[in-house]
Amino acid sequence: MPEDMEPGVIRKLDEVVVNRIAAGEIIQRPANALKELLENSLDAQSTHIQVNVKNGGLKLLQIQDNGTGIRREDLEIVCERFTTSKLARFEDLAQIATFGFRGEALASISHVAHLNIQTKTAKEKCGYKATYADGKLQGQPKPCAGNQGTIISIEDLFYNMPQRRQALRSPAEEFQRLSEVLAKYAVHNPRVGFTLRKQGETQPALRTPVASSRAENIRIIYGAAIAKELLEFSHRDEMFKFEAECLLTQVNYSAKKSQMLLFINQRLVESPALKTAVDAVYATYLPRGHHPFVYMSLTLPPQNLDVNVHPTKHEVHFLYQDEIVERLKQQVEARLLGSNSTRTFYKQLRLPGAPDLDETQPGDKTQRVYPKELVRTDASEQKLDKFLAPLVKSDSGMSSGSSEDAPPLPDESFRVTAAKKSREVRLSSVLDMRKRVERQCSVQLRSTLKNLVYVGCVDERRALFQHETHLYLCNTRAFSEELFYQRLVYEFQNCQEISIKPPLSLKELLILALDSEAAGWTPEDGDKTNLAVSAAEILQNKAPIMREYFGLRISEEGELESLPSLVPQHRPCVAHLPVYLLRLATEVDWEQEARCFETFCRETARFYGQLDWRDGSVGAGHPRWTTEHVLFPAFKKYLLPSPRLKDQIYELTNLPTLYKVFERC
Ligand SMILES: Nc1ncnc2c1ncn2[C@@H]1O[C@H](COP(=O)(O)OP(=O)(O)OP(=O)(O)O)[C@@H](O)[C@H]1O
Ligand SMILES: [Mg+2]
Repeated sequence: MPEDMEPGVIRKLDEVVVNRIAAGEIIQRPANALKELLENSLDAQSTHIQVNVKNGGLKLLQIQDNGTGIRREDLEIVCERFTTSKLARFEDLAQIATFGFRGEALASISHVAHLNIQTKTAKEKCGYKATYADGKLQGQPKPCAGNQGTIISIEDLFYNMPQRRQALRSPAEEFQRLSEVLAKYAVHNPRVGFTLRKQGETQPALRTPVASSRAENIRIIYGAAIAKELLEFSHRDEMFKFEAECLLTQVNYSAKKSQMLLFINQRLVESPALKTAVDAVYATYLPRGHHPFVYMSLTLPPQNLDVNVHPTKHEVHFLYQDEIVERLKQQVEARLLGSNSTRTFYKQLRLPGAPDLDETQPGDKTQRVYPKELVRTDASEQKLDKFLAPLVKSDSGMSSGSSEDAPPLPDESFRVTAAKKSREVRLSSVLDMRKRVERQCSVQLRSTLKNLVYVGCVDERRALFQHETHLYLCNTRAFSEELFYQRLVYEFQNCQEISIKPPLSLKELLILALDSEAAGWTPEDGDKTNLAVSAAEILQNKAPIMREYFGLRISEEGELESLPSLVPQHRPCVAHLPVYLLRLATEVDWEQEARCFETFCRETARFYGQLDWRDGSVGAGHPRWTTEHVLFPAFKKYLLPSPRLKDQIYELTNLPTLYKVFERC
């Protein structure tokens, strides 16, 4: 090192320089300034916020609100650094409920622009106007007329930072960014009316009404194409203590531009991790390079959130970030599936923590696989049927009307109607049912189901399947009932229909039901015909509910015209139809909404879960075929098993155990 090199002399920077450097970090472009000003107006409880812009905010950025105003005596210090009405002690930051807490925004702006404040509080008789430079009030505030609220005007942004000003050369781009910020706040705060105007133009560039809704504001700002595809849901997570409100487009919509509006505890933030996760869900549905529109608002306990990690507050840190992102990802996936089963490219469901075996296949090809670990993955290789004689027709255990009693109903008369466009479900009772299903879903069992290989039917209630090296026996009936229940819950309002041609008389079906053993009719119950008539009346009265929500149609003449189609290729068993209808009339609680949907879905699931085992034939449409080709694929695809179903599965054996046995032979 040359000897004449001297160390630099350390000096304290001039305060103005310090402040300007700090300000340059907080206010990087007009859009950052607007965000700070919007947050101040929202903190001041405004219901009307108007923004005026000249030259993309570089010449003028003015915001007018009807909030609390600033007290006359605070005007002296309002633009000094670290002066705030929102935070007193550092510990309060853990509970902060306002956007502001640093007391830095206005100060920063005053260091990089000409700043004027005009404000009036409710108590003061007149308003005041004040001018600021480098954090300091210039002269005295001047009394002026005005309405309650505040007008903040920022002129010549970065007039004293030539490089910054040069870098922001395009007012059009800056205006675009300003309107994006305003749009996002407007969607998140629908109670407040927002207006954005370019100075000198008569029509506002953007305007939302006061007391609007999020969906409505999305329509106004982002357009009807997005609004009509929106799927709305909320999710509450007890484990990781967060709540999410989401409005996102279904898979029918996609755009080149990615739109993600993310708010965490009301703050507009960015989360690359969450964005990547959501994009990954949509990537399987949308064309390459296309994106959804996503609005998400998360609420976490304030103490789990660190808001003080970035000068522009664009980033936040929170506890359980990875877990929360994962949960949200699963929610989005499940909701997209639930809302849109009519899409042809239906994707298999993956659930909380379920290991994806496709992805975790050992990549190391040199690894030795022992025969006891070899797993059959193609069910068509060899099935149980091969080893068993055809099932003997059972004449016991069937509790409903016999097939001989049933009206002739050839299979061809059951037709599934064309797919309808899916409708968004808003009823909280149904959303709660979905939540319950998802909350109760056993991750482990879901993973087993997803990867099972069908082996064969044992009898009318039981089937064998294999998962990895284990062989299981399961109660097909219990699984089917749960499956059909969930299909009803998720297809609510969007059920396809199986039309019945010619339609069947309700009354006749109900008489058949009363004739059957299952109805348990006794003479004290009264005349069968009268009973059938009154049951038919109940059903007819409730027909609008069944038609609207479940695709079960009853004509005005009292004829059954359609039933819900819940799983492709599945037809409920006609023999059980009469008792099903009787039970709808007697077992469904028609009075209370949530109970009504729950009991209707359970009764229907019970009916759909029954196969007609009296039909000993083989081939398409018959019980064995249906179990293998309809029910099991549907379990794999749709069923979110509750731990209760664990009791309906028994592990018969596994390969390592069998090897131990046979090795001794
Ligand atoms: N539009 C407004 N209406 C009423 N009061 C306002 C408005 N804008 C600013 N204030 C007052 O001025 C103070 C300073 O605002 P500033 O934005 O600089 O800091 P802050 O909001 O407290 O914190 P932060 O720097 O984190 O935004 C606020 O605490 C608030 O009391
Ligand atoms: Mg502020």
